[in-house]
Amino acid sequence: MLYPLVKNMLFTLDPERAHALTLASLQRLEQSGLLSLMCAGLQDAPVELMGLQFRNRVGIAAGLDKNAVCIDALSALGAGHVEIGTVTPRPQQGNAKPRVFRLPEAQALINRMGFPNEGMDAILPRLSARRCRAVCGANIGKNATTPLEQATQDYLSCLRVLAPHADYITINVSSPNTLGLRNLQATDYLKPMLLALLEERARLLPQLGRGLPLLVKIAPDLSDDDLNSMADLFLELSIDGVIATNTTLSRPEGLGPLSQQAGGLSGRPIHSLSLATVHKLRQRLGSGFPIIGVGGISSAAEALAMRQAGADLVQVYTGLIYRGPGLIKEVAAALR
Ligand SMILES: Cc1cc2nc3c(=O)[nH]c(=O)nc-3n(C[C@H](O)[C@H](O)[C@H](O)COP(=O)(O)O)c2cc1C
Repeated sequence: MLYPLVKNMLFTLDPERAHALTLASLQRLEQSGLLSLMCAGLQDAPVELMGLQFRNRVGIAAGLDKNAVCIDALSALGAGHVEIGTVTPRPQQGNAKPRVFRLPEAQALINRMGFPNEGMDAILPRLSARRCRAVCGANIGKNATTPLEQATQDYLSCLRVLAPHADYITINVSSPNTLGLRNLQATDYLKPMLLALLEERARLLPQLGRGLPLLVKIAPDLSDDDLNSMADLFLELSIDGVIATNTTLSRPEGLGPLSQQAGGLSGRPIHSLSLATVHKLRQRLGSGFPIIGVGGISSAAEALAMRQAGADLVQVYTGLIYRGPGLIKEVAAALR
């Protein structure tokens, strides 16, 4: 109920400043126990997927908690899973600011952050210190300075370091803001990289004593042929799941004056693209293959549509900025 007021205040600030302030406030509210009180009354609706137990079908998409500072708070808000990252092996600053833009008329954002994060070694202790019930995935990527030909080494490093404390790992090959990253979606690049990651996972499993699902996160801008090739590869290699989608480079009509800013578009205008991608994936992958649907979910209706298109779980990010944390409860209840 309070969120419209909070939002008015936050929207007077630069988007990244507002984001940092929100995360810091959530942390404090969680530590004081207030957050759990605010979120009391959300009934569990347990789901088992990829060998993991989710308390409901809604999660927090990667990019919101890049450095794993807020996992417990996001769980206290009701999220069934929280995906931290994108984490890279070495810390990096990301692109020059300003790099996040609000498009309020369209309930959208454009960002070109470029994976600013504190690096895997700084992030690991926070991942391991979490106390919450939410499943926690780690989304991994490559450093901007790592040449594409050596990208696999970056993903392998992150997998090795984060595996002991992540419930699942997402291989992010779909951010539009790291030069060349999306080329990794081409099966010629992707197949050897996934094979190396699967081999490393197999080597790690005996020490872990549990499963560690590997998922791939894809863009909404793939041609049907490329999408089908990727889906076929996931089946061939027995990848554990797919997350669809990341932000889009396309620019639908009606975005307002900032539409030509470079970067990935998220929020309401990408919903139909993400939905269509999930639908095509479900048709190609068949029933039973885990799909997490993300893109422009800002109400129960969009979450239900994503579910009907074939998603087992959904994730939210931009919708939270426009609708507030109540969106998590609303979506979880709708998908119960
Ligand atoms: C500011 C911002 C930063 C993001 N950073 C990441 C990231 O680091 N890694 C990633 O896989 N996706 C990232 N995303 C993409 C989201 O996880 C999500 O796939 C996308 O925004 C679509 O969902 P939405 O419309 O609900 O926001 C980011 C999105 C935004 C808006």
